[in-house]
Amino acid sequence: MNKIIFVILQAALQMAGSTSLRFIKPNVLALEVSNLSSFEVFLHCKEQYKGEEIYWERNGESISQTGNFITVIIDGLHGGNFTCHRPNRDLLNYTLLLVHPVEFPKGVLTQSSDREFISCTARNYNGQLHCSWKWHQERIQRAVVYFTAIRNSSPINCTLDLDISGLTCIEKDYCQYSEESRSMNLTLFVRNLYRLEEHHRTFLIQDIVKPDKVSITKIQDDVFEWQPPETWSFPCSFFPLSYEVKVVPNNHSCDYTGRRVEKNETSETHYKVKLKKAYTFCVRAQDPLTKNVWGDWSHRHQRKHQQT
Ligand SMILES: *[C@@H]1O[C@H](CO)[C@@H](O)[C@H](O)[C@H]1NC(C)=O
Ligand SMILES: *[C@@H]1O[C@H](CO)[C@@H](O)[C@H](O)[C@H]1NC(C)=O
Ligand SMILES: *[C@@H]1O[C@H](CO)[C@@H](O)[C@H](O)[C@H]1NC(C)=O
Ligand SMILES: *[C@@H]1O[C@H](CO)[C@@H](O)[C@H](O)[C@H]1NC(C)=O
Ligand SMILES: *[C@@H]1O[C@H](CO)[C@@H](O)[C@H](O)[C@H]1NC(C)=O
Ligand SMILES: *[C@@H]1O[C@H](CO)[C@@H](O)[C@H](O)[C@H]1NC(C)=O
Ligand SMILES: *[C@@H]1O[C@H](CO)[C@@H](O)[C@H](O)[C@H]1NC(C)=O
Repeated sequence: MNKIIFVILQAALQMAGSTSLRFIKPNVLALEVSNLSSFEVFLHCKEQYKGEEIYWERNGESISQTGNFITVIIDGLHGGNFTCHRPNRDLLNYTLLLVHPVEFPKGVLTQSSDREFISCTARNYNGQLHCSWKWHQERIQRAVVYFTAIRNSSPINCTLDLDISGLTCIEKDYCQYSEESRSMNLTLFVRNLYRLEEHHRTFLIQDIVKPDKVSITKIQDDVFEWQPPETWSFPCSFFPLSYEVKVVPNNHSCDYTGRRVEKNETSETHYKVKLKKAYTFCVRAQDPLTKNVWGDWSHRHQRKHQQT
C-alpha cells in the first residue's frame, strides 16, 4: 500500500453523464457528483467468486439485491457501507461508498483565520512537522478517510494524532543543510457520515518554520537573558535566530499595541530595559533567513519594589 494511485474509474452509470467513481483506498470508493440527485452505482462483491448465493447489507441492514454484481441507488449524500455475505451471513467483502460533492462549498472542516483548512508548522529544520485542522462543530460523525504526504514522489511518514485533528510527519531523508527546492504535498480526505471532502496543502518547510518559545534564563537589574528554544536546529551558526523584544506596561499582554510600548529587534540573547515603572518583558524568535513566522511570546512581569 506504499504507492496509492488514484485510479479514476469511469463508472458505467446509466443516469449520470459526468459523475464518476473514484478509488480512494482499498474498499473505499467515492461517487463524485455535481448535484445531489439519485445515481445508480454498480458494486461487486468478490472477483472470480464461485460459490453460493451472495446476500448484501447496507449499513448492517439487509437489502433485496443479491448476487456478485448489484446496482444500488445513491440519493444525495446517502452513501453507505455495503457488505456482501454468504447465506450463513459470513462476511465476504465490503465497499464503503462515499459521496463527494465536487463543486460544493467545503463544510466538514472549517477555515482558520488565514483562510486555510489545514495549517502546518515545523519547530525546526529536522524534517518533522505538524499539520492540523478544525472540524465543523456540527459534524459529529467525522472521520479521517485517508492522507498522504509526498515530496519528489517519495511518500513521507505521517501519523494521525489521537484526536484525529492533526498529523505528525517525519521526513527521514530531509537534508537540513541543503536548499529546499521542491515543495511537499499533503492530501487529506475526511468525511462526515458518508460525505467526503478533499483537502490539499503544498508548502516548503522553510515557509512553515515557527520557532518554539524562547526560555528566559536570567533577570538581573532589568537585564534579561534568554536561550534559543531547545527544539531549534543546531548549530546556531548555521541556524541563526533573530528576536523581537517588546516591553509593555505592567499587566498587559504581549500583544498589547497601545502607547508606552518599547520594541526592538536583536540577534543578541540579552536586553536591558531602562524603565522605572513596573512592566512586562516579552521576547519571541524568528528565522531571520526566511522571515516567515514568529514564534509565540515568552514573558516575565517585572514589579518594582523601590519607590521613587
Ligand atoms: C445532476 O448531474 C447529472 C450528471 O452531471 C446530470 O445528468 C443531471 O441532469 C443533473 N440533475 C439535475 C437535477 O441537475
Ligand atoms: C472487495 O471489494 C473491493 C471494492 O470495495 C474490490 O476493490 C476488491 O477487489 C474486492 N476484493 C476481492 C477479493 O475481490
Ligand atoms: C464497513 O464494514 C466493514 C465490514 O463490516 C467494517 O470492517 C468497516 O469498519 C465498516 N466501515 C465503516 C466506516 O462503517
Ligand atoms: C513512521 O513514524 C512512526 C512514528 O514515529 C514510527 O513508529 C514508524 O516506525 C515510522 N515508519 C516508517 C516506515 O518509517
Ligand atoms: C504538488 O502540488 C503542486 C500544486 O498543487 C503540483 O503542481 C505538483 O504537481 C504536486 N506534486 C506532486 C508530486 O504531487
Ligand atoms: C497585576 O497582576 C497581578 C496578578 O495577576 C496583581 O497581583 C497586581 O495587583 C496587578 N497589578 C496592577 C498594577 O494591576
Ligand atoms: C535596540 O537595541 C539596541 C541594542 O540593545 C540599541 O542599541 C538600540 O538603541 C535599540 N533601539 C531602540 C529603537 O530602542
